[in-house]
Amino acid sequence: MAVTQLERTTQVSLTTRAGDTAWVSALAPGDQQPVREVFEGLSDRSRYFRFLASTPRLSGTAARHLADVDHQRHVALVATVDGRTAGIGRYVRYAGNPREADIAIAVVDAQQRRGLGRLLLAALGAVASRSGVETFTYLVHPQNDACVALLRPVAGLLTLSDGELVGSGPVPARLLPEEAASQLVGLVRVTPTRWCRGAST
Ligand SMILES: CC(C)(COP(=O)(O)OP(=O)(O)OC[C@H]1O[C@@H](n2cnc3c(N)ncnc32)[C@H](O)[C@@H]1OP(=O)(O)O)[C@@H](O)C(=O)NCCC(=O)NCCS
Repeated sequence: MAVTQLERTTQVSLTTRAGDTAWVSALAPGDQQPVREVFEGLSDRSRYFRFLASTPRLSGTAARHLADVDHQRHVALVATVDGRTAGIGRYVRYAGNPREADIAIAVVDAQQRRGLGRLLLAALGAVASRSGVETFTYLVHPQNDACVALLRPVAGLLTLSDGELVGSGPVPARLLPEEAASQLVGLVRVTPTRWCRGAST
């Protein structure tokens, strides 16, 4: 993954393992459009793995919740590849312990296995570690081989609890070059607006 360019301050360009250019931006607070675009790009199986339940449609409540970012407690980064929304990675800090955060990543099926999940994990780690988060926690369906593989280098041992794999580990702070990390931090420090996102994509 290499930083190739910074466009204004609203997007950071990173390169995936497959050589794709992914433009990463902060989800604008309340902007449900990218949330819905990613959901539409997920197969039933991917939706099941993401939400740990059969989720044939995204309810208005769920979409609002997923777009309810403030980039302090709830941070979400959107990746766009070839002009299409390709994935979202997010973390939400625990109310009782803001040094810990739960993470979730979704990559549309058409872009899976090209390195975008790992790129989003690295981007979340870069932002979280520079925002006071020390530990990521993980909740994964036991048959979600992709997620298990994605988390293997960072999550420590995942253990089975109530039918799900759970685990935690230090936030992966240094998976990206420092220049890229600070650009990503800049994305969330300037509170984005719908207008900014729309204007830059
Ligand atoms: C899990 C997910 C985010 C991974 O994204 P991705 O872009 O496909 O992942 P990457 O291409 O970066 O690959 C990451 C690792 O997973 C491995 N992997 C990817 N898909 C795999 C699969 N179906 N089976 C086994 N391993 C897989 C890759 O080989 C890679 O391992 P490596 O880096 O050790 O070589 C994606 O599959 C997804 O969105 N799934 C649906 C939603 C979901 O399950 N989210 C996670 C729970 S919140």
